[in-house]
Amino acid sequence: MTTAYTDLDTTTAAAEVYPPQEDSHLLIDVLVDAGLAPGARVADLCTGSGVVAVAAAKAGAAQVDAFEICPTAVAHARSNASAAGVDVTVHRGSWARAVEFAPFDVVVANPPYVPQAPVDDTAVIPGEAGPAQAWNAGVDGRLILDPMCAAAPLLLADGGSMLIVHSECSDVTRTLTALRGHGMNAEVVAQQMIPFGPVMTARAAWLMREGLLAPGCELERLVVVRADAP
Ligand SMILES: C[S@@+](CC[C@H](N)C(=O)[O-])C[C@H]1O[C@@H](n2cnc3c(N)ncnc32)[C@H](O)[C@@H]1O
Repeated sequence: MTTAYTDLDTTTAAAEVYPPQEDSHLLIDVLVDAGLAPGARVADLCTGSGVVAVAAAKAGAAQVDAFEICPTAVAHARSNASAAGVDVTVHRGSWARAVEFAPFDVVVANPPYVPQAPVDDTAVIPGEAGPAQAWNAGVDGRLILDPMCAAAPLLLADGGSMLIVHSECSDVTRTLTALRGHGMNAEVVAQQMIPFGPVMTARAAWLMREGLLAPGCELERLVVVRADAP
């Protein structure tokens, strides 16, 4: 797999902007290697720093719309696109607003997907993990994944493709089942084992107790699910 990272200077990102991490880069690699971007109308649903949106634009997308709820991240995504010399329209607001601008040929998303323990552990998670709203996704990690899967038919043009990256801890089978239930052809097209980051380290014991992570496991499996509209 080739690696096609952008030149974003993440050291300038404020603590409230998710720094591009393994999940960001895995999603970019799949987008670029699949050749989905050239000429496409692309939506990046939870853009953060804009790293995926910028990569899509650099890979030849005809149009890129990015969506983000955090105002600081919106500012960073805009300035990172400008610094990269590419055209990305960054909308401030929920990813769900993308429906207003649909249909898209390609939809990419690295949403919050980490299951959230009932006891708030945010204080013990180092700032390098980025802001809590970038990863916390409810007790099963599906707070955004479920509505996003349900919205796929509303977002995609005929023959369009959606790429979603998330962890094994947030139930890959459920993502596949949901997307197929909404009429998509869906499969896992990439995966990567990574060492626990700060959030997983803080939550591993709880995730194992809940059966969301295999006992004794020391690595997390990231997957990219691709869903193709008929
Ligand atoms: C895991 S980060 C991914 C950032 C970037 N796409 C990347 O891959 O590095 C998730 C991002 O989603 C944003 N976010 C959380 N809830 C959202 C929502 N309902 N709508 C849009 N963005 C949201 C967070 O602020 C955060 O920037």
